Amino acid sequence: MTQRIAIIGAGPCGLAQLRAFQSAAAKGAELPDLVCYEKQSDWGGMWNYTWRTGLDEHGEPVHGSMYRYLWSNGPKECLEFADYTFDEHFGRPMGSYPPREVLWDYIKGRVEKAGVRQYIQFNTAVRGVAFDEASGKFDVTVHSYDKDLTSTERFDYVVVASGHFSTPNVPYFEGFESFAGRVLHAHDFRDALEFKGKDVLVVGSSYSAEDIGSQCYKYGARSITSCYRSAPMGYQWPENWEEKPLLSHVRGSSAFFVDGSSKHIDAIILCTGYKHHFPFLAEELRLKTDNRLWPLNLYKGIFWEDNPKLIYLGMQDQWYSFNMFDAQAWYARDVILGRIALPDRALMRAEDLAWRQEEETLETAQQMFEFQGEYIRQLIEATDYPSFDIAAVNKTFLDWKHDKYEDIMGYRNKCHRSLMTGTLATPHHTPWLEALDDSLQAYLADSPAAGIKAVG
Ligand SMILES: Cc1cc2nc3c(=O)[nH]c(=O)nc-3n(C[C@H](O)[C@H](O)[C@H](O)COP(=O)(O)OP(=O)(O)OC[C@H]3O[C@@H](n4cnc5c(N)ncnc54)[C@H](O)[C@@H]3O)c2cc1C
Ligand SMILES: NC(=O)c1ccc[n+]([C@@H]2O[C@H](COP(=O)([O-])OP(=O)(O)OC[C@H]3O[C@@H](n4cnc5c(N)ncnc54)[C@H](OP(=O)(O)O)[C@@H]3O)[C@@H](O)[C@H]2O)c1
Repeated sequence: MTQRIAIIGAGPCGLAQLRAFQSAAAKGAELPDLVCYEKQSDWGGMWNYTWRTGLDEHGEPVHGSMYRYLWSNGPKECLEFADYTFDEHFGRPMGSYPPREVLWDYIKGRVEKAGVRQYIQFNTAVRGVAFDEASGKFDVTVHSYDKDLTSTERFDYVVVASGHFSTPNVPYFEGFESFAGRVLHAHDFRDALEFKGKDVLVVGSSYSAEDIGSQCYKYGARSITSCYRSAPMGYQWPENWEEKPLLSHVRGSSAFFVDGSSKHIDAIILCTGYKHHFPFLAEELRLKTDNRLWPLNLYKGIFWEDNPKLIYLGMQDQWYSFNMFDAQAWYARDVILGRIALPDRALMRAEDLAWRQEEETLETAQQMFEFQGEYIRQLIEATDYPSFDIAAVNKTFLDWKHDKYEDIMGYRNKCHRSLMTGTLATPHHTPWLEALDDSLQAYLADSPAAGIKAVG
């Protein structure tokens, strides 16, 4: 009987899984029955921008954490699909750090070409996944908002591709309830212009803090203060940006820090990360982890060891992104198609623990992306996903890190070379700090003229 595969989410990971199957079918493989459930009305996951915050039009938690004016924070050459290059999609070279809408267009281009939209049920939220021991199958309960109907179907495999940067981690600091300004999490941040002329505090010292602070600076905040729990970001910030140790409490419109200093603040943006959150999974199927390079209990970083017919994609902290999701999706596909056999549980566990042990020794950023690169290399080696020069991608990450320390507001003006096609990126027509319009149209225009009008 044809196997049935449920894929939860049509973001980059779910789409990678669909593309992996389609590419096997194009080479003659018999396809299993694929059903992808997506709670939003369109594909692309995070990259499908929404202005909404809180609950969506159906009362579901809004998935999107991306904001207006977001540009890629790593070189596009590090995330390029090996089977669908930027050259193929855009037909010409472009900058190395495109805005969100440009990357969304690229993601969509591959799956439009593959013709996999037919497998996706949009406006359909997965409400429950339970494993039935007797039949050895999963019961997946979904609610279709188009039909206003809840139903349950049976599947041989479930692929969890629902992302992990959507449910905010929201710490409390004393005095928040009576703070004179706005307190929000990065998940609800949408438009930096809201903070023009304001004194903004960002809490956290990772990518959201760095980028949301930079957006606020770019769009005219009066001052930025960032505060850290473990370590400062340590970039050479502009004059009106100050890094402080962690917030201790707030009173009125003043923020107090653990070093005893204080400052007037109009708005606090908690850039304090996200939670892996799978309320739709039965307890015994639920991955519980913090945001790290090697979450435990996943063989090859993919298969739930207690029940390897449950597959997780993209659950790692991400240096690599799109091409890592592909490497995982191709490997998962080959296991489902019976081309790769999984070892017994003890062996899976031993390998999992060995990766974790190595992860725990990593200290520098370079060691971390090399670790993730090696993981991907091993996955790719086992399948027909087109191989690419991982060492060269690692070198691009290293150059990127260097560029950021040299000029945190200017690193996005640098150009990198594609490791898939050899094409060298061309500088964008406007330096990032001056490019206020992030639309696809403005980005792909030959001159900045279209770019200045639309904003502010
Ligand atoms: C602010 C921000 C900026 C980022 N910038 C970059 C960047 O510049 N470069 C980069 O490489 N990566 C970036 N990332 C990482 C980004 O998460 C990945 O690029 C990518 O989107 C992960 O793909 P995914 O498919 O795992 O998850 P997502 O993109 O989150 O997609 C998951 C999908 O699952 C759906 N879903 C969730 N729950 C359910 C349910 N119960 N039922 C049905 N559908 C469901 C969602 O609606 C969504 O469409 C950024 C992340 C954030 C938060
Ligand atoms: N394209 C872009 O420009 C862009 C922009 C934003 C985000 N992103 C992506 O989004 C993803 C998530 O990034 P993220 O920065 O939101 O999450 P993250 O990388 O998981 O970092 C979370 C941050 O929150 C801090 N934190 C957590 N709990 C805290 C607490 N109770 N008090 C103080 N600080 C606390 C952490 O501090 P510790 O270090 O002490 O743990 C860390 O600095 C990443 O993949 C990133 O690349 C991309």
